[in-house]
Amino acid sequence: MSKKITLVTIDGPSGSGKGTLSQLLAKKLGFHLLDSGALYRITALASLQKNIDLNNVDAVADVALNLQIRFDVSSDKTIIFLEEKNVTDAIRAETISMAASKVAAYQPVRSALLARQRAFATAPGLIADGRDMGTVVFPNAPVKLFLTASAEARAERRYKQLIAKGETVDKSILVKEIQERDDRDTKRSVSPLVPASDAVIVDSTSMSIEQVFDFMLNTIQKEI
Ligand code: DC
Repeated sequence: MSKKITLVTIDGPSGSGKGTLSQLLAKKLGFHLLDSGALYRITALASLQKNIDLNNVDAVADVALNLQIRFDVSSDKTIIFLEEKNVTDAIRAETISMAASKVAAYQPVRSALLARQRAFATAPGLIADGRDMGTVVFPNAPVKLFLTASAEARAERRYKQLIAKGETVDKSILVKEIQERDDRDTKRSVSPLVPASDAVIVDSTSMSIEQVFDFMLNTIQKEI
């Protein structure tokens, strides 16, 4: 008999807190976690390591299709291996963020990663974190959340993270960068960042992480 799998999609722009909340929710519910952004990041890193020109769509799609990756979830922080090398921190570098955003706009790359993303859906359930989880990858998911916050609020959170790391940054530049990225993500022709028509929109601008967590957990538990 096949076991019931509960699918929960969490989409939203960068800096909305999706990553942190997805991890917390997956842990609380004992569900698997798909960090789909990591797959685009790994594709970008693997392509660069193979000296592939990122403008060569077919070559990058081929890399995406043949990625040898492993997620080690045995500790609190997921460790990501590419061809058995730990790339957990390497894929978060700024150069890789830019490269990932470029390759994520290629339809053949998105198609190449589709089956891999769907394979994460195993019992008892999955928290799928990304941009097109509810619209393209898991359109039939019973629970769809779209987490957002104003560009200013997201910039403020990022500012605090960077200051805590000892970096000096100009907050107004962060706001501008976030607005530019939102613009690119929502206006691209392939899988643009838009809420699914049946998604619950969560605007976390004036909410604490605990409030957002409780609201999301409640919404999920009502469904399951
Ligand atoms: O969430 P993130 O910053 O790790 O995502 C990396 C890049 O991949 C970012 O440019 C958005 C893109 N992305 C996407 O297009 N679709 C997804 N499902 C997840 C991420």
